[in-house]
Amino acid sequence: MLDKINALLAEINDLKANSSEEIEALRIKYLSKKGEISALMNDFRNVAAEEKRVIGQKLNELKDKAQSQINTLKETLETSVAADDSLDLTRTAYPYHVGARHPLSIVKKEICDIFGRLGFSIAEGPEIEDDWHVFSSLNFADDHPARDMQDTFFVQHGADLLLRTHTSSVQTRVMEKTQPPVRIICPGRVYRNEAISYRAHCFFHQVEALYVDKNVSFADLEQVLLFFAKEMFGADTKIRLRPSFFPFTEPSAEMDISCNLCGGKGCPFCKHTGWVEILGCGMVDPNVLENCGIDSKIYSGYALGMGIERITNLKYQVKDLRLFSENDVRFLRQFEGAS
Ligand code: DAH
Repeated sequence: MLDKINALLAEINDLKANSSEEIEALRIKYLSKKGEISALMNDFRNVAAEEKRVIGQKLNELKDKAQSQINTLKETLETSVAADDSLDLTRTAYPYHVGARHPLSIVKKEICDIFGRLGFSIAEGPEIEDDWHVFSSLNFADDHPARDMQDTFFVQHGADLLLRTHTSSVQTRVMEKTQPPVRIICPGRVYRNEAISYRAHCFFHQVEALYVDKNVSFADLEQVLLFFAKEMFGADTKIRLRPSFFPFTEPSAEMDISCNLCGGKGCPFCKHTGWVEILGCGMVDPNVLENCGIDSKIYSGYALGMGIERITNLKYQVKDLRLFSENDVRFLRQFEGAS
């Protein structure tokens, strides 16, 4: 019996295992109820009385050795798994979806970044506005036909509260409080009472830019527009300005860019003109400066405003405006990975 115990001790001393399954098999082989050590324990009954003390001690030693050897094997296996650097044990057990930015947020950020590089800082204003900031200060006379251009949502009948129809209201808010130089970019949501279709919605988003200082000229505006178009749509982009009318700018213009789908050759998207309209702009009307307490004999400025949805449509060829507000993840997931 002593020989058998010594042989097992030697065997157990040399145990090796590469996986937890192998370790479990060894545990069963030596330590389970039907294992080799239990069998020896059973035989212990037949050992002669004078040998019981020595053999009993040896048997206990064998059992402890087997148990500690199995534990050591387990520990060694765990540390070798942890040392494998393809395995990150601090990771969560389940895939963690961080989500994606909304396409309008991606484009808004890009527009703000481009103007940010030109020294414009971001300004924001309230969405619930009053008549002064949205219309009157911006040179819309009470009976001005231009007021009809925008279908306004009024918050309360008779009260001077309305949902802003454009972000130009932020121009007034900033100029009332700040003397030039003023160089701001104002992103935000605007509301108009429009029937909802693939090309119009009752709310959408705009970015307004305003620069007021001494000696600001139309040439400055044109350079900024060209820089913006090239940064946003690529270095080959060309711009074209067409005369237009806005009550708050004089002169006023609309800017087209060469169609980024056909490269200006003409396609259904640009209605075969080679050009697509992207924003309105002009020199701030002196009346607007005066309305905000800025001396129009000393200062001049330019302003421009664009729809974020329009720019996003051009960049990503989204044909239906309604997709932006339906929160359909099959649409939104297509922008995962965009900056
Ligand atoms: N506020 C105009 C609109 O909602 C857009 C616009 C046009 C803004 C010309 C401007 C500008 O600052 O100069 O249609």
